[in-house]
Amino acid sequence: EKGGYDYFMLKEIAEQPKAVADTLLGRIDAAGSLTLDEVRISASELREVDKVVIVACGTAFHAGLIAKYAIEHWTRIPCEVELASEFRYRDPILDQQTLVIAISQSGETMDTLMALRHAREQGARVLAICNTNGSTIPRESDAVLYTHAGPEVAVASTKAFLTQLVACYLVALYLGQVRGTKWGDEIHAVIRDLAHIGGDVERVLETMEPVRELARSLVHKNTVLFLGRHVGYPVALEGALKLKELAYMHAEGFAAGELKHGPIALIEDDLPVVVVVPSPRGRSVLHDKIVSNMQEIRARGARTIVIAEEGDEAVVPYADHLIRIPATPTLLQPLVATVPLQVFACELATARGNEVDQPRNLAKSVTVE
Ligand code: M6R
Repeated sequence: EKGGYDYFMLKEIAEQPKAVADTLLGRIDAAGSLTLDEVRISASELREVDKVVIVACGTAFHAGLIAKYAIEHWTRIPCEVELASEFRYRDPILDQQTLVIAISQSGETMDTLMALRHAREQGARVLAICNTNGSTIPRESDAVLYTHAGPEVAVASTKAFLTQLVACYLVALYLGQVRGTKWGDEIHAVIRDLAHIGGDVERVLETMEPVRELARSLVHKNTVLFLGRHVGYPVALEGALKLKELAYMHAEGFAAGELKHGPIALIEDDLPVVVVVPSPRGRSVLHDKIVSNMQEIRARGARTIVIAEEGDEAVVPYADHLIRIPATPTLLQPLVATVPLQVFACELATARGNEVDQPRNLAKSVTVE
C-alpha cells in the first residue's frame, strides 16, 4: 500500500535511500572490495571481454547512458549504449567477447528481451540488471545482477532508476577490479563513496519543498528544457522524460554543448531551462563550460533552474532558481541530481491534475514490441 503517501510515486521517491543501500548490501566486503560472485561470470571470462553493449528502454536506457561513462573510464573497455528497440534491426557486430548488459526494471520489456535474444544468437554473453526476481529477461540471460529496489508500482520509474545506476556502477567497478586498471585507487575511493551515497540521497529529499513550490509556479508553462554535460546529459534526458510522461508537457533534454548547433533558437523570454551542473571539483573544465552556457541562455531570456553542488558559488549569478545537491564524485552525481527532477515532475503533474501513478496512454511494463 501507499504507506500514508498520496501516490505510489511519492512513496517510491522516498524509498530511494533504502533502495540504494539495499542494492549495495552484501556486495562490498570488509576490505572494501566488491564481491559479485552471484553474477556467475568468471573473472577469466570478464578479463576476455573486449566490448560492452548496453540495451534498454526509457529510463533504463538513461541508466545505460550513464553507465557508459563509468565503464569506459574505470575499465577502458569500449561501451556502446543502444535503445533496445533499435538494436537488432541494425545487424550489430557481436561475438563471444562482447558483454551485453540488458537493463530492465520489470524484466518483461519485449524490446529488451528481443535485443538480448538476438545478442545471444550471435554468441554474446548477456548480463541482466533487473528488479524482478524470476522474470523473463533474467531467465533468458547468462547472468543477472538484481537491483533491490522492491516492487515499483508507479508507472514512472524512480527508485528502480537509482538502483539501476548503482548496479551499473558495481558492474563497472567490478570489471575494473578483476581486470586491474590504473584507476585502482580511485575504484577503492568510489566504492567507499558509494557506501555512503544513500545518506546523500536522503539529504536531497529533505530539501525538496522549494522544488515543489517552483513546480507549482510553472503549472501554466508549455515547455521546459533540460541541459547537462557528461553524465549530466542523460540526467537531463531523464528529467525531460519524467516531465513528459507525468505532466504531459513538452520537455526536451540536450547536451549543453549542442545548444549553439540548434536548440538555442528555442530560447525565449521566461522559458524555464533546468541546468544540471557538474561538480566544480574534478573535471572542472566541464563546469566552466556549463557556466558559460548558462550565461548564453540567460542573456536570451531563459529562466534558469540550476542544480548545483553545495558550495559552488560560480553558478549563483546565473541562477534564477538554485537547487543544491551534496558534493559527489562526478560519475556518481546522477544519483543525487536526478532526485529533484523526479520531485519536480511529480509535483507539476499533481498541480495539473494529472493521474500521477497511471499517466495516460502508458503501461508499467511494455510487453509488446
Ligand atoms: O521495465 P523496464 O525497465 O524494462 O521498462 C523500461 C521503460 O519502459 C521504462 O523505464 C519507462 O520508460 C518508464 N515509464 C519511465 O519512467
